[in-house]
Amino acid sequence: MTHTEIRKRFIEFFEKHNHQNIGSANLVAKNDPTLLLVNSGMAPIKPYFTGEEKPPHPRLTNIQKCVRTEDIECVGDPHHHTFFEMFGSWSIGDYGKKMAVELAWELLTSQEGFNLEPDKLYATVFAGDDYIPADTETISHWKSIGIPDEHILKLPASENLWVSGPTGPCGPCTEVLYDRGVKYSCGIECNPNCECGRFYEIWNAGVFMQYNRKSETEFEELPFLSVDTGAGLERFAAVLQSKESNYETDLFSPLITEITSTLNIDSLTTAQTRSVRIVADHLRAAFFLIGDGVVPSNKREGYILRRLIRRAITHQIFLKIKLEDLYERLHQSITNIYGSFYPEIKDQDIIAVLQNEHENFLKTLKKGLGVLEASLATIVGQGKGKAAVFPGEIAFDIEATYGVPLETQKEIAENHGIIIDKESYQAAYKKHQDLSRKGAEGKFGKVQEYANEEIAPLHTATHLMHQALTEVLGSQVKQAGQSLVPERLRFDFTFDRKLDPKEIRKVEKIVNQQIQKGLSVTKVETTFHEAVKQGAIALFRDKYKEVDQVTMYKINNFSKELCGGPHVANTSELGYFKIIKEESVGKGIRRIKATLEKK
Ligand code: SER
Repeated sequence: MTHTEIRKRFIEFFEKHNHQNIGSANLVAKNDPTLLLVNSGMAPIKPYFTGEEKPPHPRLTNIQKCVRTEDIECVGDPHHHTFFEMFGSWSIGDYGKKMAVELAWELLTSQEGFNLEPDKLYATVFAGDDYIPADTETISHWKSIGIPDEHILKLPASENLWVSGPTGPCGPCTEVLYDRGVKYSCGIECNPNCECGRFYEIWNAGVFMQYNRKSETEFEELPFLSVDTGAGLERFAAVLQSKESNYETDLFSPLITEITSTLNIDSLTTAQTRSVRIVADHLRAAFFLIGDGVVPSNKREGYILRRLIRRAITHQIFLKIKLEDLYERLHQSITNIYGSFYPEIKDQDIIAVLQNEHENFLKTLKKGLGVLEASLATIVGQGKGKAAVFPGEIAFDIEATYGVPLETQKEIAENHGIIIDKESYQAAYKKHQDLSRKGAEGKFGKVQEYANEEIAPLHTATHLMHQALTEVLGSQVKQAGQSLVPERLRFDFTFDRKLDPKEIRKVEKIVNQQIQKGLSVTKVETTFHEAVKQGAIALFRDKYKEVDQVTMYKINNFSKELCGGPHVANTSELGYFKIIKEESVGKGIRRIKATLEKK
């Protein structure tokens, strides 16, 4: 069954049952502070569930373009994607659980529907927890339809309580799994709750929107019950076309063929297969995002797009292919597959946007690869018979600053006979995530708005300047504020008079000396007390006191400061430091603006 036929059967089935097809919304989420990109069919229509807005019809259906990036690390396995299409059907305060279950069953098993064997279907339902009771009603409806007890799984909130975001409409859900047979099984331990791919989740056949989530543990009843169903088209295609992976279906295979045909090899290794899939997945997402008006940038959805393009490009390096020669052909394939459903994808400008981002990124990437090679060289030098291990936190910094992914770094390091320490990489990654989360919660200030590679050199320069100011002007200097944009750093500090030109030149000189020395910047995880004992500068003292683990950045022996980063790995990457302005911004507070000029 082609994807065109699958689409037709789904939509026609719900239209026959009096649902109105509302078509797909743009990928950029509108008027939703909890979301940047539409991540499910229900996202654009949330106000219908709370009663804030009235739907055009009480029964709706569509196929919605979606992007989800929280599982981006899984892309490359048989069934995770960043872009996907979601089938949806809804009852907004109209029919309830019984009819939802009956409709799902009819579409899945009838001849004019998807004609799946009833024996191969399983249903999951919510088992209940401290806040929301078990969904016994849905269990009884599945039983009346003829599903035997042993094909009904009762699962906890993590699996079967669907939430649209940190707050908003939510409720218990019931999902349908399809048994693809023992050939997909991981072994004798396998059961319907196993993730191996044998019992394949094909449809969230009903989220019963009953509650509005106010916080993690607070749920208030919605004024009426709605039904929200969602199914990934890619998964349906894999089942109905009997393909092991979604990438072999007619939604993907033309793209995969385009990419592999440039590789000139007969069979791919597992790693190559994964990379080919990542390239296909991420570029498909990029084409759709650009088609919906998103442009690569360092903010919001533009940054998601940028990350997708960059990941695709780094996998091109691993695959040793040239994507710039492929964009046009891939765009043609995508247009052939999707053009009649989404005319916006045909726009030729999409290729130009991609080419432009590609060229820009290659420049940064080359810089990052240079830093990596230089850092690796110092490791070899120090090796002296000891096992050569590259610190994971440096690998993480190179990834965060220049966008060189860990796997690419690993490969290069291995060519030098060096292994990258996985544990310290994981620790740095986790620390970064925790800090970003805290940042997002407002505890540690503003959410980061610029890409790390643009900000890291200025960040490191700020630490150098802070120390230099203290040396030149004395301990009266205390940081009062800071703002970094890619063009300049701005630093506010306490001091009671104007600086004279000699002092300014002295500060510049000290900073440039440290840059020329090529000092290594290291990240140290320690406790707040230990850091202060060592004399680290600790801005936001009170805030850091709340956490026992802190990150301190050391620039050799010159500077120690508590900070979440990002920083460069070595001061030699900074260029020439120049103070462009010194002024007063209030009683006892001075402001310095400074830049880093290219070497
Ligand atoms: N909102 C649910 C999901 O995304 C059903 O559409 O799975």
